[in-house]
Amino acid sequence: MSINSEKDLQGLRQIGRVVARCLQHMQSKLEPGITTAELDSIGGHYLSLHGARSAPQLTYNFPGYTCISVNEEAAHGIPGPRVIKAGDLVNIDVSAELDGYFADTGGSAIVPPESKLHLQICSAAKRALENAMLEARAGAKLNRIGYAIEAEATRSGLTVIENIGSHGVGRALHEEPGFIAGYYDKHDRRILRENQVITIEPFISSGGREVFENGDGWTLVTNPGVFTAQYEHTLVITKGKPLIMTLTA
Ligand code: CO
Ligand code: CO
Repeated sequence: MSINSEKDLQGLRQIGRVVARCLQHMQSKLEPGITTAELDSIGGHYLSLHGARSAPQLTYNFPGYTCISVNEEAAHGIPGPRVIKAGDLVNIDVSAELDGYFADTGGSAIVPPESKLHLQICSAAKRALENAMLEARAGAKLNRIGYAIEAEATRSGLTVIENIGSHGVGRALHEEPGFIAGYYDKHDRRILRENQVITIEPFISSGGREVFENGDGWTLVTNPGVFTAQYEHTLVITKGKPLIMTLTA
């Protein structure tokens, strides 16, 4: 969507804050012994307490409130009986709707002890998000986002997952502009416009370049032993720095 009024901006900020705080709340409960289903129900409870509805559930009938992806799972993991263990890399993705506005956020976290590899991909993915946000301004080519993400991955000796990416959001979970690559696509001629609402969500991997569905209809995995980190914000494009909607404060 594009922001057309102060009401639009306030609506997005409101749901942006709810998903950001929900993610933070869920991450605070992340510890060995908890199942991903328990973690998800904490998130679902938080959303309903704040009048929000899970976007993947609403939009795609996703079997959970949030997506929780552990270790070799890169995205869209279904919450269930899986028990979190020490040393796990856990990605939680929270998207929800409130008053017709949708916001989408996500983040990876390491359950101690933190391995060097997990720390490396998490910090590279955070830097990739920061760098890509600096490129995302009105009038710039959309492919600057992928350029920045890929450059960070390459600098860090890591890879980008190419078949999942960022996207338009705001009045629906996924809307125009559609797939925004996490790599430099020189054929992508699209231009970012002022007031446009998009996510940026780099998927940085320890060697994977694509994910495939594991057979459960949802979970996107890499090959065993490969790890992926993702951080995601919902943003409003301006002539300067984008406005981040998914902040906890
Ligand atoms: Co997301
Ligand atoms: Co997203």
